Amino acid sequence: MPEPEDKALFADEFTPDDLPFLANLDCGDEAWSRAATEWICGSDVIDSIGKHGTTVWIYRHCEADDSIVGFASLSATGWLRWPPPDGKKCRLLYIPQLGLDRRYRGKPSSHDFRYSNQIIEYLLGQAKRAAEQIREDKPPKKHVELLTLRVHRDNIPAQKLYQRYGFKFLPAFDENDHLAMQLPLALDSPSRAMDL
Ligand SMILES: CC(C)(COP(=O)(O)OP(=O)(O)OC[C@H]1O[C@@H](n2cnc3c(N)ncnc32)[C@H](O)[C@@H]1OP(=O)(O)O)[C@@H](O)C(=O)NCCC(=O)NCCS
Repeated sequence: MPEPEDKALFADEFTPDDLPFLANLDCGDEAWSRAATEWICGSDVIDSIGKHGTTVWIYRHCEADDSIVGFASLSATGWLRWPPPDGKKCRLLYIPQLGLDRRYRGKPSSHDFRYSNQIIEYLLGQAKRAAEQIREDKPPKKHVELLTLRVHRDNIPAQKLYQRYGFKFLPAFDENDHLAMQLPLALDSPSRAMDL
């Protein structure tokens, strides 16, 4: 296994051909970490792509490296009321799941190259790009302005990561011990996506 280092990760769109390479991915022992591992290694990822048009990216140290550092995903919701239960009807971008192999948590020590930061910055860039595409293609009522997610109330590392990038908790939301977070996509400012 390559040692964590100050280097940009290589991001690639997931296809079912990647599943054999994911067999060794292990996001950790906590319930939410096992859920992340099971989501990407099992049938949920394929269901999410098929049913919701989710896009999934996997991250490696470099293109030629088969060992996977982590993954992230992005989906668009159907019409729903936001904030629930009686906000205005809209569509949102949504992060169904993301995770890092447990070996890479907190690595490398440099903030600029921290794998968790690289994964989320790439995802924010993709979310912004998706929202801009919708803005070009669709009428205003279909535009999306928020990136949202759910996180277990005890999953402090994930909450800290999201807060680092400006996500805020939705007040008074708690569904089966999961809190909701949201981030306005600031479509008029330059993207922070890595140039991968
Ligand atoms: C979420 C995840 C990608 C974050 O990556 P990471 O490398 O652990 O995160 P970072 O090191 O960048 O930062 C996490 C923060 O949590 C803190 N932290 C880490 N473990 C902690 C713990 N057990 N308790 C409290 N805080 C903790 C870190 O010190 C850091 O704090 P800081 O922002 O004050 O510096 C990773 O933990 C993961 O894959 N978890 C399993 C899957 C998962 O939870 N997915 C999200 C589903 S919503």
